[in-house]
Amino acid sequence: MIPDLANGVLATDLVQAYPDGYRLFGKPKMNKAVDGVSFRLHEGETLGIVGESGSGKSTLGRMIAGIETPYSGAVSFWGEPYAPVGSFLWRQQRRHVQLVFQNPAAVVDPRWTIHAQVREALLTHEALTRETADERTQEALALVGLGSMGHRLPHQLSGGQLQRAVIARALILRPRLLICDEAVSALDVSVQAQIINLLLDLRERLKLTIMFISHDLSVVRHISHRMGVMYHGKLLEIGDTQALFDAPRHEYTRRLLSAIPVEKPRRSKKREIDNSRAL
Ligand SMILES: Nc1ncnc2c1ncn2[C@@H]1O[C@H](COP(=O)(O)OP(=O)(O)OP(=O)(O)O)[C@@H](O)[C@H]1O
Ligand SMILES: [Mg+2]
Repeated sequence: MIPDLANGVLATDLVQAYPDGYRLFGKPKMNKAVDGVSFRLHEGETLGIVGESGSGKSTLGRMIAGIETPYSGAVSFWGEPYAPVGSFLWRQQRRHVQLVFQNPAAVVDPRWTIHAQVREALLTHEALTRETADERTQEALALVGLGSMGHRLPHQLSGGQLQRAVIARALILRPRLLICDEAVSALDVSVQAQIINLLLDLRERLKLTIMFISHDLSVVRHISHRMGVMYHGKLLEIGDTQALFDAPRHEYTRRLLSAIPVEKPRRSKKREIDNSRAL
């Protein structure tokens, strides 16, 4: 076995297409959300994915996570193809890849403590005594800086703390791959920086492989070893992050990168107001 092929993710000619409206006769027209994307994600690497809204980033992430079957093409995950969605083997594979999304409040149960929710994720995959499960949960919470907050309910945490809890719940399963889809986009800039630093720290400690999808190029630049640019469902270019910033090959990438100072829509609006005052 060639070790390089066995570790990490290999995406080959991935296509995802959704029916575009209904037709009375014949097949519905298909809209390609992802259109022939191939790349390799190496073990231990953080790959950033950027591109404008609707370019197919999240769709690509779902196929890489194995929660959506590609229309065509294939994903090899640590040397194995994903089993059919919903099958027994697929459920076993699911623990190896975890996702973190933009809005943590939407993916937690408001009635359960943070500790109970993180422990529950562990117990669905491992048969452990309550004591061991509690210990592992406490370790995971401490890892994300919430060691003393397990007894709290979701509404008793800030947005950043809640996202840390979601990260703890993902990492307690010791996944090989963590997919972050706009995971810091809804947070204030200072909190974003804390979560990014946490991910950088966890990446080293746990030897994590990360796919980091974001609108925010400055964040992607900070965290990614390599970076891929999506445009209309296609992977326009992919390469070493610094090299891509220094010498983008495509005009689109150049324009995207030159728009970097805008960190959040809210901030850019404020800046516009400030500028208009200055005039
Ligand atoms: N389940 C679905 N059914 C139909 N169309 C879909 C579905 N999911 C995505 N699409 C379409 O596929 C295209 C790509 O969407 P996707 O959400 O992957 O983009 P994105 O790059 O993540 O955008 P954003 O930055 O806004 O999150 C869009 O045109 C979208 O409307
Ligand atoms: Mg998206």
